[in-house]
Amino acid sequence: MDESKRTSFVPLLCLFFLLVAAAAPGCAAYNPRMLFLVKPDPIVLQDHHGTLLTGNLTVNILYYGRFAPAQRAIVADFVRSVSAPATRAAQAGPSVASWWRVTSQYRGGGARLILGRQLLDERMSLGRSLSLENVTALAKAAGHHRGAITAVLTAPDVLVDPFCMFRCGVHDHASAGAHGRARYTYLWAGNPAKQCPGQCAWPFARPVYGPPMPPLVSPSGDVGMDGVVISLAALLAGTVTNPYGDGYYQGDLGMEAATACTGIFGSGAYPGYPGTLLKDHATGASYNAVGLGGRKYLLPALWDPTTSKCRTLV
Ligand SMILES: *[C@@H]1O[C@H](CO)[C@@H](O)[C@H](O)[C@H]1NC(C)=O
Ligand SMILES: *[C@@H]1O[C@H](CO)[C@@H](O)[C@H](O)[C@H]1NC(C)=O
Repeated sequence: MDESKRTSFVPLLCLFFLLVAAAAPGCAAYNPRMLFLVKPDPIVLQDHHGTLLTGNLTVNILYYGRFAPAQRAIVADFVRSVSAPATRAAQAGPSVASWWRVTSQYRGGGARLILGRQLLDERMSLGRSLSLENVTALAKAAGHHRGAITAVLTAPDVLVDPFCMFRCGVHDHASAGAHGRARYTYLWAGNPAKQCPGQCAWPFARPVYGPPMPPLVSPSGDVGMDGVVISLAALLAGTVTNPYGDGYYQGDLGMEAATACTGIFGSGAYPGYPGTLLKDHATGASYNAVGLGGRKYLLPALWDPTTSKCRTLV
């Protein structure tokens, strides 16, 4: 795509994103295409003084559609690694736990994530085409309670409106109980392998818009699942630091802990370049964090409230 088309696309996207943000202040999207927006510098996420999620938090996962056991293991090991104590394997490089530690710099001191139930809905009980309302219903049916985040992950052939259009995933909250006073948080991330890898699995797939760059080799060998992990990581960070839409965010641009740093994975990143990453010499894969069992991941930079900068691991 030539330069003029690209520049005209960006304001349109921005306008749409603002409309979405204004219409649903409690709902935040993870959208790597924000990569091509010019970011204000320095970015400041205001603390709106609402409740944040702290302490022990269970992450329940609903796999909607077909996910192979090896694919589920990538996700489960990531969630288990987030609050894992330091191990020798993790000391060999930056750990997933050290990535998450940035969230403890936010008011309240952060949350410890515990992998909870993993549920399968392989037969796709609500069909292959879902609305965000359907996703909320799925999260609710999967069981929700205080102190838990329900993550709904959809398989590559599940269509979620508006997956790929402007979002790779969403986190939100809903009310439950007699007076709607019990609030619970949930998120959805889609596997972009077939629908839009260039948008939601970048830099492991060629971007549709933006500078052409050969895709990097994905650490799990499964580009779609590495995209799921990037979205899930970003949405978990957004969920704990802005669970109910009145925590840390920058209103005008709809930015949160990870979306303020979209497209940044390593130091020296600029639009279209993810930054310096570590390389697995055996496989050629690019990564920036090591989890339990030595599993390698690429995780998005998070905004650090102590420095007002995006913190990268490498
Ligand atoms: C979280 O769980 C750990 C381990 O079970 C426990 O030691 C700790 O006290 C718990 N923290 C809170 C805030 O409940
Ligand atoms: C899914 O969402 C659509 C639109 O929001 C709604 O009309 C439909 O009833 C929902 N389907 C189910 C099975 O809940």
